[in-house]
Amino acid sequence: MGNAVDRIRTFIAIDLPGGIKDGITGYIRDISGGKHDYKWVAKDNLHITMAFLGDIEYDDLSKINSAIERAVAEIPVFSARTGSVGTFPSVIWIGLSQGEDECRGIFTQLTNELLDADFRLDDKRYHPHITIARSRRRMDQAERKRFEANEPRVGGKFKVKELVLFESQLRPQGPEYIPLKKIPLMG
Ligand code: 2AM
Repeated sequence: MGNAVDRIRTFIAIDLPGGIKDGITGYIRDISGGKHDYKWVAKDNLHITMAFLGDIEYDDLSKINSAIERAVAEIPVFSARTGSVGTFPSVIWIGLSQGEDECRGIFTQLTNELLDADFRLDDKRYHPHITIARSRRRMDQAERKRFEANEPRVGGKFKVKELVLFESQLRPQGPEYIPLKKIPLMG
């Protein structure tokens, strides 16, 4: 039987190049002043979640790595571009104006391969995004519109060459994401 130490909180993501993170962080700096109801995402933590695995057994890591490898084995490297601001009731995010279909394709492959390896993903509708803030309460429509009306000029194009399996360590000062494994796309 495992104990708490044998379990780790994990997710699969696309990490972003430093230049894209810089652009987004500059945008966060511009809009975050005085808005204390939000937790703004630290530069190093900006990413596109591909699949949230949650708590898994440490011993299952190699099975998960193999499933990710199988999922992306035939997915070529692709180009993506950050897009405009969107919101969920308590999340502010930046979407993709390029590369969304590829992300959805990868999500489908991950879902299938992980299911074959007995890991069921959260079946919440997948929508690729870069979370930039989490609100401490649900935002009303007017508030969401205010953010969505802002077209950020953080648009940048980048190549997606790999997925990263991250461990998420929850700490009082905010989460820390530790890369455990990088899984290259084809090409
Ligand atoms: P989010 O950016 O939309 O909040 C690490 O926690 C990452 O996994 C976050 O980027 C988060 O997405 C994503 N995630 C998806 N489902 C989650 C869940 N049920 N709990 C926590 N994080 C989740």
